Formats: sequence, C-alpha cells, structure tokens
Amino acid sequence: MAAKRANWLMRNHKWFERHSLILVVGILVVVSIGGIIEIAPLFYLKNTIEKVQGVRPLTPLELAGQNIYVREGCNVCHSQMVRPLRDEVERYGHYSLAAESMYDHPFLWGSKRTGPDLARVGGKYSDEWHRQHLIDPRSLVPQSIMPPYAFLAGRPVEVEAVRADLAALKALGVPYTDEMVAGAAEHLLQQVDVDSDFEAMVDAYSVVAGREGTVIVRNFDGAPGAPTELDAVIAYLQVLGSFVDFSTYEAGDVANRR
Ligand code: HEC
Repeated sequence: MAAKRANWLMRNHKWFERHSLILVVGILVVVSIGGIIEIAPLFYLKNTIEKVQGVRPLTPLELAGQNIYVREGCNVCHSQMVRPLRDEVERYGHYSLAAESMYDHPFLWGSKRTGPDLARVGGKYSDEWHRQHLIDPRSLVPQSIMPPYAFLAGRPVEVEAVRADLAALKALGVPYTDEMVAGAAEHLLQQVDVDSDFEAMVDAYSVVAGREGTVIVRNFDGAPGAPTELDAVIAYLQVLGSFVDFSTYEAGDVANRR
C-alpha cells in the first residue's frame, strides 16, 4: 500500500517539476505552513511580550530625541540590543528584555555596530559629556570616527509637532493617556525647566511605568532658553536602558510583571 502511494507521488511529482509557476505556488504553500504555525499564535497570545515594571512610553522630550536619533541615522552605526552573551553582558550590562523596546516604533535594535551598543547608555555619562561628545566626538575620544552633531545645539525642538507624534503612537497601542497627548507640548517644556510645575507630568508617566524615578527633569543642554534638539537627544540617551531596576529584577519573577 505504502509503496503504491509512493509510486503515485513520484509519477505526479513530474507535473510540479514541469510547470515552474505551479512549483512556486506549491513551495509557497508548503513553506508557509511552518511560518503560520510559528507566527500566527503570537498575534493571539496575551503574553508574547511580558510587561516588566518600570518600562514606560517615552516622554514628549525623549520622543522628540528619539525622532532626531532616527532622522540623523544614529541607528545605522549604533545598535540598541544587548544580546545574552557573556562578553556583551560584561561590557554593556544586563541583556535587553523584549519589554524594553515594546513601545519603540520603529524598533531600533539595529544590525550594525560601527559604534558601541547604546541600549544601556542611560546614566553612563554626564549630560556635559554627551554635549561635548555630540558637538565634537574627537575632543573626548581622539580615535573616534563618529561625525560631529554640533548643529543640534542651535536648532529649537518643534514643540507643537510632538503632540501628533504621541497621538500616532497611541493609535498603535502605546499606552499614552488622552491627557498625555493633549499636554504633550506643555510637558516637553516642563521637562527641561526645573522651575516649572512638572510634578503632574512626572506622576502621570510614573503611574504608567509602575515605578518612580524614571523621568529626569533638568536642562540637558545647559543653555538657557527654548529646548534645543541637543536637549532632546541627550534626554533620550540618558533614559536608554534605565527603566527596569535590575537590582530587583529576576527573570520570570511574578512580582516584576505588570
Ligand atoms: C558613522 C557612525 C556613527 C554615527 C552615524 C553615530 N555614531 Fe555615535 N559613535 C560612533 C563610534 C565609532 C563611537 C565610539 C567612539 C566614540 O565614543 O566617539 C560612538 C560613540 C557614541 C556614544 C558613546 C557610547 C559609549 O558607550 O561610550 C554615544 C552616546 C553616541 N555615539 C551617540 C550617537 C548619537 C546620538 C548619534 C546620532 C546623532 C550617533 N552616535 C551617530 C559612530 C557613530
């Protein structure tokens, strides 16, 4: 019986091999079975990405910084994903969790490291270091091949435009509240001004994070006046990889899940 069926398959297989278009369709059908079995359930599982305490959407200022980061192609030279390999963990810190980039659209994992990974650069250097480094990388790292970005210091952030950015991300499922979207421009200005009434903004983002202390309010570029693109980029760099408190985090620990 089995031999008979094999014979039948052999005879009819010719038919596939002689019609290239039918062969291609056949290949697509067979290959997609594996793909569907692997990928389709991910769209239905609630916990494809485990939420982790501390991870929150970017504030308007940080988001403006992320947009400038993408615009300038920083992600072409810098990855944002520490792989769970011993040498990477020793160099950069705890390996990246899926949750840490769950609100990034587009994701910025990157595939090339001309410069170091930046997934954990938050808090590694002072604002002053970043200012100096972005304005003239070779003044701090003589052998650096990173281009200078001094012009960022002279360009004001487009404050009003950020509201539309938040609204777009909210539509994609990023948990911004209506108040966060409506107050985006105001919140952006508050984050660079320690004399402003920033408390409500900080509280709102802390509630979404489920943890306090992840929003930094200060004048990042050290210059008075309206926030510049340098403020935004430094604010963004300073929170990268700092949302999760790894002194208390344990993989699979229920208390860290949200
Ligand atoms: C042509 C590739 C290239 C581009 C584009 C680039 N960088 Fe770099 N970057 C490097 C290299 C190489 C280094 C390592 C030498 C140094 O520190 O300058 C570096 C280092 C850094 C560091 C220090 C990292 C550490 O842990 O020491 C930061 C922060 C950084 N870059 C941010 C940025 C930002 C923000 C942008 C976009 C505005 C950017 N880079 C664009 C190549 C690049």
